[in-house]
Amino acid sequence: MKIQIINGPNLNLLGVREPEVYGSLSFEDYLQKLIIHYPTIEIGFFQSNIEGELINKLHAIGFSFDGIILNAGAYTHTSIALRDAIKSISSPVIEVHLSNVHARESFRHHSMLAGVCKGVIAGFGPDSYRLAIEAFRSSLLDG
Ligand code: DQA
Repeated sequence: MKIQIINGPNLNLLGVREPEVYGSLSFEDYLQKLIIHYPTIEIGFFQSNIEGELINKLHAIGFSFDGIILNAGAYTHTSIALRDAIKSISSPVIEVHLSNVHARESFRHHSMLAGVCKGVIAGFGPDSYRLAIEAFRSSLLDG
């Protein structure tokens, strides 16, 4: 099983950025835990602060992976281009957020992406990513 994690803008600063909201663990440290936890799953990771690079990555891997876990950061709330990219590929995408976006400012309550994703997981800190992997695993079992 091949799963790609894609993180968008400002998520390279996890561990440093607003730790009261996003925690103090860097994403690289969490990724190592995920890789150890799921030795039989190939987990790719890509981060960019640039919208077009996120779209290019979706195009590049979006026809060959079993699942894509996308935290598009603030582009979640603004990007029609990312929405169109998700619609254009065949691999299923789960939108994830570390924070519970619905408990925050109202501009975070709307997602441009959720309607074209398989589902949304938000509010569990880095564990949102593990829960997304679990969702892909169980949907594989469903056939
Ligand atoms: C985020 C939530 C977004 O609203 C915000 O812009 C982020 C991070 C999250 O993981 O909680 O950059 O996607």
